[in-house]
Amino acid sequence: MSEKTKFLLDESRMPRFWYNIQADLPRALPPVLHPGTKQPVGPADLEPLFPMAIIEQEVSTERDIEIPEPVRDVYRLWRPSPLYRAHRLERALDTPAKIFYKYEGVSPAGSHKPNTAIAQAYYNSAQGVKKLSTETGAGQWGTALSFAGQVFGLEVTVFQVRVSYDQKPYRRAVMETYGARCLPSPSDQTEYGRSVLAKRPDHPGSLGIAISEAVEIAARSPDTKYALGSVLNHVLLHQTIVGLEAMEQLVMANVYPDVIVGCTGGGSNFGGIAFPFIGAGLRGGKKPRIVAVEPAACPSLTRGRYAYDYGDTGHMTPLAKMHTLGSQFTPPGFHAGGLRYHGMAPLVSHIMELGLIEARAFQQTECFAAGVLFARTEGIVPAPEANHAVKGAIDEALRCKREGKSEVILFNLCGHGHFDMAAYSDYFAGRLKDLTYSEEELAMALAGLPSVAEPT
Ligand SMILES: Cc1ncc(COP(=O)(O)O)c(C=O)c1O
Repeated sequence: MSEKTKFLLDESRMPRFWYNIQADLPRALPPVLHPGTKQPVGPADLEPLFPMAIIEQEVSTERDIEIPEPVRDVYRLWRPSPLYRAHRLERALDTPAKIFYKYEGVSPAGSHKPNTAIAQAYYNSAQGVKKLSTETGAGQWGTALSFAGQVFGLEVTVFQVRVSYDQKPYRRAVMETYGARCLPSPSDQTEYGRSVLAKRPDHPGSLGIAISEAVEIAARSPDTKYALGSVLNHVLLHQTIVGLEAMEQLVMANVYPDVIVGCTGGGSNFGGIAFPFIGAGLRGGKKPRIVAVEPAACPSLTRGRYAYDYGDTGHMTPLAKMHTLGSQFTPPGFHAGGLRYHGMAPLVSHIMELGLIEARAFQQTECFAAGVLFARTEGIVPAPEANHAVKGAIDEALRCKREGKSEVILFNLCGHGHFDMAAYSDYFAGRLKDLTYSEEELAMALAGLPSVAEPT
C-alpha cells in the first residue's frame, strides 16, 4: 500500500465520456410529468427551458456520453482534480481506515459546480441561445454559471436566495466579476417574486422560490433558457467525471473503496462521485457501501416522502418522482445554503428506493466540528455543505476503529469554504443552532403534495 498523499492524473487521461447510470438501472426511472396535464412530458414541453442536446441527455439510456471537445478544453483549466489520501486526518482519528478524498475546490469557482455549468453553457451557446437564467443557494452554482456564461459568451442572470445573498456578499461580487447580474430572491423582477414579497416582505427565500423566478424569466423570453445546478439527470451525468477520475486514481493507489460518502443537496456531487461505482457494481463488479449525507434541518432523503412533486415553489416546473419535504417547505437559514432544497434528484431518490444507497442526516454544529478538524489536519477549509461529507467519512473511520477494520473510505470534498467564513465565525461564537422537526411539522409541509395518478 502506497504512502503517497496526492494521486494526480495527467490531462491526457481526463475521461472522454460521462457515465449515464440510466443504462444500468434494474428498473427505469419513473417519467417526469407535465404540471398541467400530469401526463409524461415530451421534448417539446421542455424546449422553452433547455436546448435539445440537454433534453436528449435527460432521457438518454446510452451508457457512455461523449464530452464535447470545447467542454474538455475548459475542463483542462482544473481537471483532472486531485485525489488525496488524508494521512493526517487518519492519524488524528487514530483509525486503521484509509481515507481518500477527491477535491473539487480546485475549480475556478471553488466547487464541483463548473463540471455541469461549462457543459450547459456550451450546449446553449451551440444552439444559438444568448441568455441564461438560474437560481443559486450558497452562491457556488451562480458563480460557476457566471464563469461558464463568460466563457461561452452568454449573459447570465442569477436569483440568489435572499438569506445567502445577505450572508455572502462576496459571492455576489465574484458573480459580477464574471459578468453576471445577481438579484436577491424573492425579487420584484418576476410576477412570482412579487407575489411572495406581497405576503411576506422579509421572506428569507428558498431554492424552490428562486427556481420559480429563474424559470419564469426563461419561459417568457425567447432568447433566454434556464440552467439548473443540480437535481436533473443531465446535471448528475456531467458530474460523473468526478467519480470516473477517482476510479482511475484509486487504481494508482492500489485500492478499491469499501465505503463512498457524499453530501446531498439536490444530489449532483453525490451522484458524481457515486454513480460510476454503483454502475460498476450493477454490471457485476464490487459493491461498496454508498452513504448520502444530508442536513437534519432539510432531511429530504431520510424523512421526506417518495412521491411526485414540483421542483419549485411556484409550481412552474414539471413534476418529478423524488424524495420531497413538499414544495412549500421553507428550510431555515442554516449555513449550508446549497443543501437547502425541498427535494432530491429523481435518480438519487430512485436508487435509494432500489436499496442501492444509505442515507444519514446530521446537525450543522457536528458538521462544522468535523470541518474544523479536517481544516486543522488536512489544511483545507471545507464548504459548509462539504462538511456533511467530512462528518460522514469521519463517522465511518471511527466505526472502522471500533471494529478494528482497515476499510477504504472515499468521499467527495466538493468545495472550499473561503466565502463561508462568516459561518465559521458563527460556529466559533456558538451562534449556530441545531434544528429538529417534529413529525407534525413535516406532515404539514407534505400535506400540500399534488395528487397524481401514477403512470403505469
Ligand atoms: C459546495 C457545495 N456542495 C454541495 C452542494 C449541494 O448540491 P448538490 O447536492 O447538487 O451537490 C452545493 C450546492 O450549491 C454546493 O455549493
